[in-house]
Amino acid sequence: MSALTSLPRIDLRSDTVTRPTPGMREAMAQAAVGDDVFGEDPSVNALQEKLANMLGFEAALFMTTGTQSNFCGLLAHCQRGDEYIVGQMAHCYRWEGGGAAVFGSVQPQPLTQQANGSLDLAEIEAAIKPDDAHFAKTKLIALENTWGGKVLPQSYLDEFSAFALQKGLGRHLDGARLFNAAVAQANASGTSPYDEAKRIAQCFDSVSVCFSKGLGTPMGSALCGSKELIAKAHRLRKMAGGGWRQAGFMAAAATYALDHHVLRMAEDHQLMQHLAQGLSGIPGLQFESPETNILFIDLVGESKDKGPALQKYLKQAGIDITGFYRLRLVTHLDVDRAAIDRTIATVRQFFNA
Ligand SMILES: Cc1ncc(COP(=O)(O)O)c(C=O)c1O
Repeated sequence: MSALTSLPRIDLRSDTVTRPTPGMREAMAQAAVGDDVFGEDPSVNALQEKLANMLGFEAALFMTTGTQSNFCGLLAHCQRGDEYIVGQMAHCYRWEGGGAAVFGSVQPQPLTQQANGSLDLAEIEAAIKPDDAHFAKTKLIALENTWGGKVLPQSYLDEFSAFALQKGLGRHLDGARLFNAAVAQANASGTSPYDEAKRIAQCFDSVSVCFSKGLGTPMGSALCGSKELIAKAHRLRKMAGGGWRQAGFMAAAATYALDHHVLRMAEDHQLMQHLAQGLSGIPGLQFESPETNILFIDLVGESKDKGPALQKYLKQAGIDITGFYRLRLVTHLDVDRAAIDRTIATVRQFFNA
């Protein structure tokens, strides 16, 4: 219950807020575990093998967080004095405390993303540094998919991949929401989300996947790559304090999520469509049609400054959203149709619409 209303609380701030389902709790409780620092946790080993196979890589490494996974991925590609090209608004540049620069002396070269989250290949080409003592050595390009809920077009990924290979650059994907992208792509083409996830992943040399977002686990991410890259990442994870012990309880949750929570993400996407339809036509609200489970809303015109008041109004009605610079609403495992209907009605009440 919300403190301010007797109605159940609706948390649309992020897909990270989900609680494990009864099935997931059961899988965690039953997990066989061992000491993962000794490589002896059967549930961790099984998860790593499963994800690597699923996405078409030689190996995978279970990580505590997406930030740790991106960090180890970036530093597995880059040495001190190297650089990675990355989106100006990409999580692994902007929202991870500058970890690669702080701990790894790796220089980011941010580029403004295009509206769909992609990096223009001509701009990447222009940003690649010549082999000259003045410059850091360009080693890697990092993309994010989904980015702000948008799916990078597969045609772009194919082109990007060929381009990076031709330039001899590494390719890292922050696939925190890889499976959201895969589910949306599969929905459009009538294929399997698992096939689409592999198709996307195979455009990269390393892919970080989060289990604790749309997949609904309490914690955990994984980095996939070649055996050589994962061996480097393993050493880096140790340095980053990520040598964990009976992590199998969490790995079991992740395995359960890969088996049971991938296909159901289509429901989150449908609910987001329902939300967007319900909010459409309200004067002062501006947003693009959502592609997956995230909706960003800009307040415009006379409503330009109403963001904090709307957020407060929603909070009093037991509905949480985020609003740092744009309003953000996210659907996930713990949100149902009734919650979305209540959200639409409350926003409409606020605007008398
Ligand atoms: C796209 C993206 N990448 C990486 C992360 C980092 O994940 P974590 O919070 O587990 O460190 C997030 C977290 O929200 C994210 O949205």
